[in-house]
Amino acid sequence: MTTRDPFTRPLGRRQFLRSMGAAAGGLAIAPWLSGCGDGATSATDVAVPLQVDPSRPWWLQNGFGPVSAEVEAFDLPVVGALPPELTGLYVRNGSNAQTGVSRHWFLGDGMLHGIRLDGGRASWYRNRYIHTPLYLNDQDFIDSGIPQGGNNQSNVSVIHHAGKLLSSGEVGAAYHIDSRDLSTVGVEDFDGKLNTSFTAHAKIDPVTGNMHFFGYWFVPPYLTYHVANPAGEIIHSSEIGLGANSMMHSFAITDRDVIFYDLPVLFAPEVAGTDFPYRWNDEYGARIGVMPLGGTGDQIRWVEIEPCYVFHELNAFRDGDDIHIDVCRFDRMMDGERFGDVRSAFYRWSLNTAGDSLGFRDEVLIERPMDFPVHDRRYTGRRNRHGWLTTFRDHPDTVNTGGVIHIDAQSGDTTEWDPGPNRHLGEAYFVAGGSDEGEGWLLTYCHDHARGETSFVVLDARNVSRGPIAEVALPQRVPYGFHGTWVPDGA
Ligand SMILES: [Fe+2]
Repeated sequence: MTTRDPFTRPLGRRQFLRSMGAAAGGLAIAPWLSGCGDGATSATDVAVPLQVDPSRPWWLQNGFGPVSAEVEAFDLPVVGALPPELTGLYVRNGSNAQTGVSRHWFLGDGMLHGIRLDGGRASWYRNRYIHTPLYLNDQDFIDSGIPQGGNNQSNVSVIHHAGKLLSSGEVGAAYHIDSRDLSTVGVEDFDGKLNTSFTAHAKIDPVTGNMHFFGYWFVPPYLTYHVANPAGEIIHSSEIGLGANSMMHSFAITDRDVIFYDLPVLFAPEVAGTDFPYRWNDEYGARIGVMPLGGTGDQIRWVEIEPCYVFHELNAFRDGDDIHIDVCRFDRMMDGERFGDVRSAFYRWSLNTAGDSLGFRDEVLIERPMDFPVHDRRYTGRRNRHGWLTTFRDHPDTVNTGGVIHIDAQSGDTTEWDPGPNRHLGEAYFVAGGSDEGEGWLLTYCHDHARGETSFVVLDARNVSRGPIAEVALPQRVPYGFHGTWVPDGA
């Protein structure tokens, strides 16, 4: 692990990374013009404008549109070379309304898309709905009543812990998934000990193997923190006091701390029948809470910050009395059309814990819209050198991803792969392939909106600008989704 603060160069962190962000944007077109890495399919297509029909919701068309079939295909052709060490399952969750209609991008039925890799082969691809009551009874989030327990769409994320692959939604219980075929085993209630929601962004401490997570809810207790041991047994739970039912999509841990984001997007029952039931609230304010890892709600300390919204952090770590959290920060969220003002940038939040009250400062690391941040999870909660994010392109009518950017926090360098004007990446999930931090691969789905086709791509994580080292054409389009994970054989 590096110990040198990478951002103390004379130019200054803010100035330097802003300039690197601008440079990366300016150079973004170069990789696809010059061809991709050995093995990638051609991405030198002529740009085809991304058309959005304004009469229909953007999340039901183009690459977002749901697919109706559950398919499976075997021994898929590989262009390039899949690393033989990469043997296991890549699986990604997403929102896929079985009726073809949903009230929001976040309100479709959970569907998993998985590809099994085996010693250099792409053994199979399949997509499977998660068999929630909402799916089985053809109901949506709104019609089904309060989404507690298994009564949720389980459409956001996946995590592998204690030998179980779990699918999770924004609220409600997780589902146990059979990693052999993506079938639904059932609701995961941790032997009856979990009666709150299960977050889509649980964190596994790489040293202890404990899984830290929370559930948030519409009525008190609004927030409850839990710890499960490496055997998957809940060993600790504690309620955390919140002023209202704010939407808490993620949180962070360090080796000593748990950090919660209490931000001004609140449950809004007045829109629950027509839309995603959360709205920006100008009155609520915003604050960050810190408590000891494994601690209790009475130990939490809060600090007020400027109102904003954060879905995801890249990582967090402690440096003496300071806690640093690198986040994709939106100025506002859930405030009208699409998501409201979606202006965003990559920030570092820094909390000083030395005094009676928490100190807070923030700074822009890269002034560019990006999200789906990932890190080498062997460094969760520890100072990380490497990070990766999906870039976003401007479009007035739809969410529009681009490529992937690699940030080297030690050198301050950023490098990027842009897959070409017609292609769009999802979250690029890091899989370790060596002992050094960042040594490994990025796995993601890549959609071509001109062809209506999706491929699975593998990138060298520390050399993303080379382009894919392997690419697998998939038998059907994979709608844009949310979060994925990797289940290695034997885990
Ligand atoms: Fe998320």
